[in-house]
Amino acid sequence: TNALILWALIGYGLGSIPFGLLLSRIMGLGNLRQIGSGNIGATNVLRTGSKKAAALTLLLDGGKGAVAVLLARVFAGEDAAQLAALAAFLGHCYPVWLGFKGGKGVATFLGLWLALAWPVGIACCLTWLVVAFVTRISSLSALAAAASSTLWLVFLGHGTTLFLGIALTLLVYWRHSANIARLKAGTEPRIGQKSS
Ligand code: G3P
Repeated sequence: TNALILWALIGYGLGSIPFGLLLSRIMGLGNLRQIGSGNIGATNVLRTGSKKAAALTLLLDGGKGAVAVLLARVFAGEDAAQLAALAAFLGHCYPVWLGFKGGKGVATFLGLWLALAWPVGIACCLTWLVVAFVTRISSLSALAAAASSTLWLVFLGHGTTLFLGIALTLLVYWRHSANIARLKAGTEPRIGQKSS
């Protein structure tokens, strides 16, 4: 159990690094909290106009989830890897450094699944891409990817991750409640649009 606590802490620590906020500050793109949705994720970084910063944010926010899983797996096994995955996701959404006001966890969600069960990760990425291609709405794509993840993990033979999958899906929906309200109102902006 000590090892599990350690990997939960390491996962949380990695997940809580707000790459979008850091990159947009370093690259002089302004204060993300005053742009678009105010969120710290790649979708909102794109609203600064920098595709490069957005791509880097996506990569690094996804990467931290993957790294947390892979490190925990190598040093402590599969249970620790699942715990580190959840902790990294929670770290991104509720970082202590930002008064627990973090992101929505989508990139980290995709990264942790790619590391934890890569077929599930690929299926979720494809789901995101297909919905994004059709609707051009990032949040809707994320909600579809999250909802589909539980189906993917069952059908692709990763049922041992079902509880984690359900927990992550619920958390993604919870973190998108403002987006869901905008989707219902028909005011959610398309990808790259500054506002509705
Ligand atoms: O990854 C978060 C995305 O699903 C929505 O971001 O900035 O449009 O609220 P945003």
